[in-house]
Amino acid sequence: MNIIVTGGAGFIGSNFIFHMLKKYPDYRIICLDCLTYAGNLSTLRPIMDNPNFRFVKESITNRTTVYKLFEEEHPDIIVNFAAESHVDRSIENPQVFLETNIIGTSVLMDACRKYGIKRYHQVSTDEVYGDLPLDRPDLFFTEDTPIHTSSPYSSSKASADLLVQAYNRTYGLPTTISRCSNNYGPYHFPEKLIPLMIANALADKPLPVYGEGLNVRDWLYVEDHCKAIDLIIHNGRVGEVYNVGGHNEMKNIDIVKIICKALGKPESLITYVADRKGHDMRYAIDPTKIHAELGWLPETKFEDGIQKTIQWYLDNKDWWETIISGEYQNYYEKMYNTEGLLK
Ligand code: NAD
Ligand code: DAU
Repeated sequence: MNIIVTGGAGFIGSNFIFHMLKKYPDYRIICLDCLTYAGNLSTLRPIMDNPNFRFVKESITNRTTVYKLFEEEHPDIIVNFAAESHVDRSIENPQVFLETNIIGTSVLMDACRKYGIKRYHQVSTDEVYGDLPLDRPDLFFTEDTPIHTSSPYSSSKASADLLVQAYNRTYGLPTTISRCSNNYGPYHFPEKLIPLMIANALADKPLPVYGEGLNVRDWLYVEDHCKAIDLIIHNGRVGEVYNVGGHNEMKNIDIVKIICKALGKPESLITYVADRKGHDMRYAIDPTKIHAELGWLPETKFEDGIQKTIQWYLDNKDWWETIISGEYQNYYEKMYNTEGLLK
């Protein structure tokens, strides 16, 4: 089996490649990633010499090179992780989100139509459903929940999902879509809540919590997401959407307090800052379909996953310290200092 994994130098994509190479030693994995600020080749260093692995530095929006790659590799499956993934950046500059997340998806699917494919899998997000109110804990996102997006990021992901469904219906492309809740774990880029709080706490820097910190996210250990995608690409029904999430809802402020406690840092580091524009209140996935059809259930409990994650950041300081001393520093300065979140 030849699988092209796009965005494999990022957080979830790299974890997925490690999972696949370990579980299927006969598969060939080709990682297509243009290495934006969020892509990190050092993450893939341990597998660079693996004869069943190839890295190609190119954008999914580049039709010529995408087609050439299909001609060279004759992939059986495409798993598309490549995306601009950070909501705050999409609020600052939506354009690149439209280019990568929408146009890039269409280029990949055009290549699939031209050269043929057994499966095109789109890695989507629960954010396409918008948010749920805090006072209705009985409500969850199902696959039938209407698309109702809030940010340029979620709108671009929803647009891509609609295109995937159109290519399935119009051209008969064998597609599947997964919509997952918030992931956490190793190689999570330190602009996102959990790794940002770990890195700041370790440096005794303020921990910027948006609004009152009451927003709820449904956290899933990244390995469990990878296992869900593995099941969907092998056994999922063509044309279907599968929600992925583990009924693990947590308020942001509680996550930050857990991190402070685990690192022995004072909660006085917590600094409430201006809220994110259009901030979604609550995400909560109903994973009944993937459980019933494919037998998927999350395996890592949050109490264990968060400790493993914190330990990984303690053991791999080089990985994230290199990132936060580079280009990312300019973003952090602009977002949290120049624009006044932490003034
Ligand atoms: P990430 O930002 O860590 O990684 C994105 C990767 O895509 C990077 O390696 C980057 O270099 C690459 N990339 C960006 N633009 C590209 C382009 N034009 N061509 C080729 N490569 C490009 O993202 P992530 O958190 O790993 O998310 C991966 C996917 O999963 C995204 O599609 C995201 O929408 C989705 N998702 C993420 C979460 C989450 O909690 N992180 C949850 C649900 C779904
Ligand atoms: O739900 C899936 C989505 O989860 C994915 O589609 C996105 O790619 C991924 O980035 C993530 O989006 P969120 O916006 O939920 O994640 P983030 O880590 O940016 O923020 C989590 C919560 O923490 C959110 O309510 C905003 C808040 N937050 C975030 C940052 C960066 C803070 O309070 N302070 C911060 O500094």
